[in-house]
Amino acid sequence: MSRLVVISNRVALPGENRAGGLATGLLAALRERGGLWFGWSGRSVNEASGALHEQTDGAIRFLTMDLSKADLDSYYNGFSNRALWPLLHFRLDLVDYDRGKREGYWKVNRLFADTLAPRLREDDTIWIHDYHLIPLAALLRERGIGCRMGFFLHVPLPSADLMQALPEHRALFSALYAYDLLGFQTRRDVDRFQSYVRLFAGGSLVDADTIRTPDGRRVITSAFPIGIDTAQIARQARSAVGNKAVRSLRHSLQHRKLAIGVDRLDYSKGLPERFHGFERYLQRHPQGRGALTFLQIAPVSRGSVAEYRTLRSELEQLAGHINGAHADADWTPLRYVNRNYAHSTLTGFYREAAVGLVTPLRDGMNLVAKEYVASQNPDDPGVLVLSLLAGAADELQQALLVNPHDLDGVADAIAHAADMPRAERIERWRVMMEHLQEFDIHRWQREYLQVLEGR
Ligand code: ADP
Ligand code: F6P
Repeated sequence: MSRLVVISNRVALPGENRAGGLATGLLAALRERGGLWFGWSGRSVNEASGALHEQTDGAIRFLTMDLSKADLDSYYNGFSNRALWPLLHFRLDLVDYDRGKREGYWKVNRLFADTLAPRLREDDTIWIHDYHLIPLAALLRERGIGCRMGFFLHVPLPSADLMQALPEHRALFSALYAYDLLGFQTRRDVDRFQSYVRLFAGGSLVDADTIRTPDGRRVITSAFPIGIDTAQIARQARSAVGNKAVRSLRHSLQHRKLAIGVDRLDYSKGLPERFHGFERYLQRHPQGRGALTFLQIAPVSRGSVAEYRTLRSELEQLAGHINGAHADADWTPLRYVNRNYAHSTLTGFYREAAVGLVTPLRDGMNLVAKEYVASQNPDDPGVLVLSLLAGAADELQQALLVNPHDLDGVADAIAHAADMPRAERIERWRVMMEHLQEFDIHRWQREYLQVLEGR
C-alpha cells in the first residue's frame, strides 16, 4: 500500500482539544491507516524560518510549519476566512475581497508546495483538504509531482452564480482540475460544482461522476458524506458518565432537563437565531420555564476576524438579555460557555442532554449532530433538533428537522423534543444510530481512498 500524505491547514496535534470538524474527522480517519499529516502548526511568528516541527503519535507522523503574522493575516484571516468562508456558506453579503489578501493566499499555497515537493515519493497518495488549499495540487504538479492527488471539501459549495461573483473565480476554482478526485459532502454540492464547471469554467460532464476539463483531463467528482468514529464515541460517552465535569453538570441541573448546543463561535452556526428560538420557546411553552436549561458551548474561533468579534459581542448581549428577562432566583435558563473541552467530556455532556440543538444556517456536514446521536443512552436517548440546511440532515431524517430562520418552528421543536415519549425517542434514535454505525469515519476514509487509488 502506498504512503498516505494528508495535507490541511489545521492539524489535530497530539494533546490538543481543538474545535473543528476537519481536525476531529481526519484524526479518526488517519488512526486506521496511518500516514504523514502536513499543515500549519497553529503558531504565528514575526519571521517564519521555514523549519518543520515533527511529532509522531501511533501510526501518524505530524509535520507542521509556523507561518509569519503577515502571511497568516492574508492567507488565513483574509482570503480563506473573509472571502472564501462566507462565499462557500452562501453569504455573499459578508465577502470581503482584497487582491493583496488573494496574493497572500497563493503565496502560502506556494510555500506549502515548495516545502512538500522535495519530501514526496513517486508512489505517495496525496489527500488535500478544504478551501485553504484549493490550488495546492496545481502548484505541486508545476513542481513535477505526478502522484495521485485527491481533494475533499469539508464545507458546502454554493451555486455557480455565487461562485461567479468572486473576482478571478476561474483562476481559483479551475485549479481544482489538477486533482484526480474531488470529494464533496453531499450530492447537491457535487451538482452545484458540475454546473459551475459547465457554465463558467470551460469544462463538460462525461457522466454523473466525471467531468472533462478544457484540456481533456478526466476528473472524478463524487459525494463522500463524512462520518464519525461512532463506536469510539459511544464507548467514550458510556464511560464519561463518571467523569468529574459530567457529574458536576448533572448535579448542577437539579433534575431539570438539559438542552445542549456545541459549536465553534461562527456566524454559519446560526447562534443568534438559536438564542432567539430558545427565548421564543420560553414564551410559547411556559411549562419549560424552570424545567429546562439550555447550555450553549461556543469556543471562540478565528478571533482576529472582525465578523467573529462582532458575533461574539452580539451573543454576549443576547445571553444577558435572555437571562435578565427570564431567569429566576434559582434558575438560569441559558448557560453560555466559551471554552474548549476534552472530546470525551463533550460526549458525556451530550449524553446528559434530553435535547441536542444543531441549527446552523448552512453547514457542509456538522459532526456535532452525529456525535450527539452516537453519545446517547440506548435505553433513554435524547432528541436531536437539526437544521434542514446542514449536510447531516440528508442522513439524519429521524431528527426533528427545522428551518433555523423559523423561530416559532425551532421553539416548537424544542418543546416537542423535550416532551417526546420514550418509545418514539428510542425508535428515532435507533434508525439514526444504525446509519452512523454503518457509515462511520473508517468507511468514509476507505471509500474515498479506494476511488482515489483506483482499487
Ligand atoms: P465545524 O467543522 O464547522 O467546526 P462540526 O460540527 O463539523 O463543525 O465539527 C466541530 C467539531 O469540533 C466536533 O468534533 C466537536 O466535538 C468539536 N468541538 C466543538 N466545540 C468544542 C469544544 N468546546 N471543545 C472541544 N471540541 C469541540
Ligand atoms: O470543518 C470546516 C473548517 O473550516 C475546517 O477547515 C477547519 O479546520 C475548522 O472548520 C475549524 O476552523 P479553524 O481551523 O479556522 O479553527
